[in-house]
Amino acid sequence: MSQNNAFDLVIHGGNVFTAGGLVMLDVGARGGKVVALGNLKSAVAAARYDAANLTVLPGVIDEQVHFREPGPVHKEDLESGTRGAVLGGVTTLFEMPNTDPATTNAPALADKIKRATGRSWTDYAFYIGASPENADQLGELERLPGCCGIKMFMGSSTGTLLVADDENVARVLKSGSRRVTVHSEDDMRLQERAAMVAGGADVSMHPQWRDVETAVRSTQRLLALARANHRRVHVLHVTTAEEMEILGQNKDIATVEVLPQHLTLAAPECYERLGTLAQMNPPIREARHRDALWAAVNAGIVDCIGSDHAPHTLEEKAKPYPRSPSGLTGVQTLVPLMLDHVAAGRLTLERFVDLTCAGAARIFGIAGKGRIAVGYDADFTVVDLKAKRTITNDWIASRAGWTAFDGMEVTGWPKATIIRGNIVMRDDQLLGKQIGEVVRFQETL
Ligand code: DOR
Repeated sequence: MSQNNAFDLVIHGGNVFTAGGLVMLDVGARGGKVVALGNLKSAVAAARYDAANLTVLPGVIDEQVHFREPGPVHKEDLESGTRGAVLGGVTTLFEMPNTDPATTNAPALADKIKRATGRSWTDYAFYIGASPENADQLGELERLPGCCGIKMFMGSSTGTLLVADDENVARVLKSGSRRVTVHSEDDMRLQERAAMVAGGADVSMHPQWRDVETAVRSTQRLLALARANHRRVHVLHVTTAEEMEILGQNKDIATVEVLPQHLTLAAPECYERLGTLAQMNPPIREARHRDALWAAVNAGIVDCIGSDHAPHTLEEKAKPYPRSPSGLTGVQTLVPLMLDHVAAGRLTLERFVDLTCAGAARIFGIAGKGRIAVGYDADFTVVDLKAKRTITNDWIASRAGWTAFDGMEVTGWPKATIIRGNIVMRDDQLLGKQIGEVVRFQETL
């Protein structure tokens, strides 16, 4: 083969997750893209990765992380957050707008892109946060390069972003055409019930304050408004059996995300064992809800899994509830936790790839990512499905420095993270430098 035909990278000997399923073949990458699938044993390549006994998956896309830049970067910045991501096998992520200042306009988005340039380990895009003030401009803002779409908080959480009432929710849904992602908790009910915990309470009260009805009422309002305004929505971190029932009847307009922490932990045990480290919005609930989330995963109602990485320091988490902030770290543990569920037979590897690669690509209209095929970006999450490892706090790159899964033994581990043909993590070590780029979307091609 002439030098012209040489590959930048050949991954050989692995079990590769192609569009047709798992096949033993080699993958050739050039110029950041997959250019060949087949037998590349004797091909000329600048670099080779021996994937014998490993499984080569499409690069994992985490469509929900909260980093803290600009703002309280002592919790996380774009470099530390994306470093944790590649150590955990994530190649692409979408970052949330509840920073300080919030990402609600074009200059704030441009500022985030500038900060990420040369500092991000992963490919990335940013959400624009909806507010009553910018509602009518969202149609223009959502189309800016580097924007993955609009995020609307219908219930108050970390930060100041909030669109609580039907009139303003409708204004947001009327402005623009891309799918709107939503934190669905009814703020009126949250405020009405805040007195339950305001003077101090045990953290196990968190799912009682932010109860099932708080989530269901909001999701019902959202679906009615989405239908009335002909707008597609993506309901983030769904936590209740009741919402899954409703969402299963609205698949024509609503896609659904669930989180590894809601699939793995359950109340009251998580609060007894972890205290405020298990506190997040919407809350981790009893086992009947966790079971219903699994049923929805396997019924196909769920479209994708994100981490909702939401770092807060241990010192902040040690404040008495409810002054303790809500959120768990997660971007680094998404792949090991979900592979462990695959090993336990709770979902298939095919479903894992659908939920963590193809799902986000389909929902957000990502250009050139989400599957291993010629012409697609050469993004790979190489995993050892049999590796037994223990998740520990000292493995966590987040500035927060902890994980709710410290001490958990898992089966399945990310062995390498490859982004557009560049190996950026191998055997738990970072390689090269921060080559992350802005994600491209079909609508803005
Ligand atoms: O628990 C949460 N933490 N839920 C959210 O909606 C926001 C997040 C954060 O940014 O801390």
